[in-house]
Amino acid sequence: MARLPEVLAAIADASERELVSRAFDVSFKAYAPSSKFHVGAAVRTAKGIYVGCNVENASFGLTSCAERNAVFAAIGAEGGKIKIEAVAVYARSSGKTVKTASPCGACRQVLAEFGRDAVVTFLEGGQYRSMTVDELLPAAFELY
Ligand code: THU
Repeated sequence: MARLPEVLAAIADASERELVSRAFDVSFKAYAPSSKFHVGAAVRTAKGIYVGCNVENASFGLTSCAERNAVFAAIGAEGGKIKIEAVAVYARSSGKTVKTASPCGACRQVLAEFGRDAVVTFLEGGQYRSMTVDELLPAAFELY
């Protein structure tokens, strides 16, 4: 596996660092022939860690983000009653860790469905920072 970028190795909290390194590892599986923007995401529940990468498509609108793919992998393993505790995102472009990559709006709404208190760790301005899903998407749409 590739060496962890410095920004990742610098994360003080061991469990946060583990989650980000799982996101980093899966980013190498990304299928991104259009954007060349390789994203990995890892989701932690009480039972385990699930990962996903972005998958693009020749029909551009069908692209699926890393975060949603990680959430869907968690549900495929545990069922729809999961509670997401933490999420980590990593992204690389032209072989380099990007400065900023937070979950897109659609992914925030999907994360909110399964854990509004979940702590999301993402790149901003060349560093990792954490915010809850609620902070990233205040007043998320709710149906149930
Ligand atoms: N992408 C993600 O995987 N997660 C995000 O939160 C934002 C964007 C992907 C979609 C597309 O394959 C590429 O990054 C560029 O937008």
